[in-house]
Amino acid sequence: MTSTHRIRMKNRPGRQLVANDFVEETIDLPALGNGEVLCKTRYFSLDPYLVGMMRSWEGPDPGWQQGLICGRMVAEVIESRDPDFTAGDWVQGECHWQALEAHKASTLSKLPTDSDIPPSAYLGVLGSSGLTAWLGIEKILQLKAGQTISISSAAGVVGGIAGQLAKHRGARVIGIAGGPEKCASVVSDLGFDTCVDHTSDNFHQQLAEATPKGVDAHFENVGAKILDPILERMRDCGKIALCGLIAHYLDEDPITLKNFRMLLTKGLRLQGFRLFDHFEETEAAHGEILSALRAGTLSLRETITQGLSQAPAAYVAMLSGGGIGKHLIAIND
Ligand SMILES: NC(=O)c1ccc[n+]([C@@H]2O[C@H](COP(=O)([O-])OP(=O)(O)OC[C@H]3O[C@@H](n4cnc5c(N)ncnc54)[C@H](OP(=O)(O)O)[C@@H]3O)[C@@H](O)[C@H]2O)c1
Repeated sequence: MTSTHRIRMKNRPGRQLVANDFVEETIDLPALGNGEVLCKTRYFSLDPYLVGMMRSWEGPDPGWQQGLICGRMVAEVIESRDPDFTAGDWVQGECHWQALEAHKASTLSKLPTDSDIPPSAYLGVLGSSGLTAWLGIEKILQLKAGQTISISSAAGVVGGIAGQLAKHRGARVIGIAGGPEKCASVVSDLGFDTCVDHTSDNFHQQLAEATPKGVDAHFENVGAKILDPILERMRDCGKIALCGLIAHYLDEDPITLKNFRMLLTKGLRLQGFRLFDHFEETEAAHGEILSALRAGTLSLRETITQGLSQAPAAYVAMLSGGGIGKHLIAIND
């Protein structure tokens, strides 16, 4: 019998997620059934949305009810009992946080084999993050040349791609990120026009100086601490794409906006959007992103941590602002 290592939740987290909320265990794998494919997980994705399920032990995968984490992966096929897959294929799908796993073939899709794109990109820029960024810019904000846009968590994968797509459309792009190093990299590596540090004492003043004529569009990834001061900077009839609320995922506290009334007085449109309502846009989004990657006008930024055992610490670090771009665990052995 083959065994493997798995990380699961040991207990529900409190108001802070800590590495001690997870445990590593060794499990035996059942014999491979017909229509199943045994895969070696090569990369899995450390996505912010997982923390809601870590907190509640509830999610679309039934394993969540036992604290089993289930997220996005790319993997290599080791053995197949399905005619559509053979050993050596690279696939994407969902996995538990474990090194080896048997998957139903119907839940997997093959990655292109002749691609000049690294497999990890299918979890980030060519995965849900890239599609989310594209949807916000193209469909929700319908950004136009000459407009000014602000983007929170600009050094993150969604924010970073959104900003680069906004530059491609001829917009002036203002990033918001945590710390001077992240802000510098958002400008020098991603080409944003400027980036404001939300951890600085005079954040609101810096934001006002960076947006002297206000902003036409805002892409929100974080929550009230950024959205509230941004409402003051919005121009009349501006649009806000509410993509994420990462600062609020670990609690049920009310989300308070001092400037809420400005939605009315400025005639603003705030629209939340969910990736899974827009999968029909995948081809258009990936077409643009792939072209930009190949033309070298879109940068692929990843924070890759090696080794399954490091996943809890890397996940906690991602939520606390460590690293840039897409956060992944790589398993090499
Ligand atoms: N709507 C959808 O369908 C959809 C799909 C995918 C993702 N999302 C959302 O999009 C957002 C971005 O996702 P991502 O994968 O690119 O993650 P990400 O932006 O890389 O998330 C990690 C970053 O969030 C920032 N952050 C975390 N807690 C914060 C806090 N309390 N205050 C301020 N900043 C905080 C930190 O950046 P700084 O160090 O710069 O503060 C941290 O590095 C998330 O909210 C995610 O849930 C939505």
